[in-house]
Amino acid sequence: MTQTQGRNQCLSAEIPELSKCSVLMRERCRVEETIYNMQQTGPENLQVISDFDMTLTRFAYKGKRVPTTHNILDNRLLIDENCTKKIKKLLNTYYPIEIDARLSTEEKLPLMVEWWTKVHKLLMEQKIRKDLLAQAVRESPSKLREGYKMFFDHLAEQNVPLLIFSAGIGDVLEEVIRQNHVFHPNVNIISNYMDFDHTGVLQAFKGQLIHTFNKREGALAHAAHLTELKGRQNVLLLGDSLGDLTMADGVSNVQNTLTIGFLNDQVEERKELFLNSFDIVLVKDETLEIPNAILKNIFRTPRCSKRT
Ligand code: C5P
Ligand code: MG
Repeated sequence: MTQTQGRNQCLSAEIPELSKCSVLMRERCRVEETIYNMQQTGPENLQVISDFDMTLTRFAYKGKRVPTTHNILDNRLLIDENCTKKIKKLLNTYYPIEIDARLSTEEKLPLMVEWWTKVHKLLMEQKIRKDLLAQAVRESPSKLREGYKMFFDHLAEQNVPLLIFSAGIGDVLEEVIRQNHVFHPNVNIISNYMDFDHTGVLQAFKGQLIHTFNKREGALAHAAHLTELKGRQNVLLLGDSLGDLTMADGVSNVQNTLTIGFLNDQVEERKELFLNSFDIVLVKDETLEIPNAILKNIFRTPRCSKRT
């Protein structure tokens, strides 16, 4: 038996969750080797970069779609019926484009800018009040994935930085994790933040627009500020879109990267694309069981090295 085979057998026994039929891997050996390397260098060398909507939040619950941070704003407290209709129409037009396996990222890019720009303009016209956001989040059926508490708490306990990189709305995202009691000090967020005037009314969105397919630019622009991430050479990346794969582009000196993709929708059409792009693909898995199992393994004291 080679050293690598020995290690991998050991890891398969340690993370039985990876054998579930909803877990797909193109190169199982590479995955196991990467986890092994991450385990050897421990939590002090790890950083986690995750998308938010449909990655940390559920895609669906009891047969109904769970709202994204944009759709949480669909509450009469914040927007009127006419605006709801317009935003829904835009969603029905552009979301199918976002997830269309036949279109390239280059083809999708201008259309995504169009979608986000139109929706943000509509939201600004509604004069949304900052002081009502928390209530709208409380009243929404928004849901983090099962296992979220263990995920956030474990990372905080181990002092592992968690960068949440979202093309959603940062103010809403913050409120979701705050209300779920997991907005720990190790969490950093890059997202589209609302700009309120002195009376607390939405007047614009801050900074460069982030949409699903320009996260690379956002990652590079923000990298310099996130100094606490420097020197952490192992990256665990979670996403639900191919655009999420560029979220780690601002990290320098990466030694090991493990990418996990949640394949929520258009499963058969996108399976191959996802398999060719993410190290691990989770098919219609509404939980954080696999990331949690991998983290648990990385966080325990290395003990496999002598068994090879
Ligand atoms: O956190 P994440 O980067 O996933 O947030 C972006 C998601 O929000 C996209 O996948 C998109 O489907 C969704 N979105 C939405 N309504 C909009 C714009 C984007 O639900 N107006
Ligand atoms: Mg997402």
